[in-house]
Amino acid sequence: MRHWTQLGEAAIPGSDKTLLLYRGKDDFSIRISGGFELMSTRKHASEDALGSLPCKRLKQAESAHVLIGGLGMGFTLAAVLKEVGTGAEVTVAELIPEVVDWNRGPLGDFSGRPLDDPRTRVHIGDVAKLLRGSHGCFDVIALDVDNGPEGLTKRANDWLYSMSGIAAALDALSPTGVLAYWSADPDPAFHDKLRCCGFMVDEVSVFAHGKKGTRHTIWLASVDG
Ligand SMILES: C[S@@+](CC[C@H](N)C(=O)[O-])C[C@H]1O[C@@H](n2cnc3c(N)ncnc32)[C@H](O)[C@@H]1O
Repeated sequence: MRHWTQLGEAAIPGSDKTLLLYRGKDDFSIRISGGFELMSTRKHASEDALGSLPCKRLKQAESAHVLIGGLGMGFTLAAVLKEVGTGAEVTVAELIPEVVDWNRGPLGDFSGRPLDDPRTRVHIGDVAKLLRGSHGCFDVIALDVDNGPEGLTKRANDWLYSMSGIAAALDALSPTGVLAYWSADPDPAFHDKLRCCGFMVDEVSVFAHGKKGTRHTIWLASVDG
């Protein structure tokens, strides 16, 4: 049996659950109290894709403004930084301050320490609040705050997948911007919601790791096709 050492525990605001950081022999795992594994350093191909796929569609990657919600293990942030130029600004909103601390510690080695990149801005707080206060300013918005439209960690995150949350994201995007959502599973109803809000949508199925096994879903939504 594998041996895991608990390194940290953090309250999840608006929930009675906690987030736990574990170290294994040569990997890390973040779990929700009760045992569900939310993230692992062993499998992050779909988190990488959430960052790279929308940025590859950018017309002006050099000076792009990108919003990521949430940080997790930093893989999406690192993938965005690889795609955008030196004049870009990448804001990552993370609800739980301890997650940022964990990424500044040994966990950060696995993603290449994207928090140290001068283009990175960290916003500790709810990405929903940032979205509500932003208008036409982001070229990419990449959202992975939960397990998908059927959230596990925080009920208030349901708003991000609602018609009004999608409309707020549309309002926060630049006219040629791309909105990307990660999900553990496909969700035809959510796909339809994106289309009802005026987006053209591509649904991409991405392996969690390597070339077989579990797949995750990424929706890429834009208004100009
Ligand atoms: C599944 S992880 C993200 C994984 C990330 N894509 C990566 O590359 O590792 C979800 C993260 O979102 C954060 N989170 C949850 N709800 C949030 C919210 N409303 N605003 C900002 N961050 C949130 C969680 O604390 C967690 O760190």
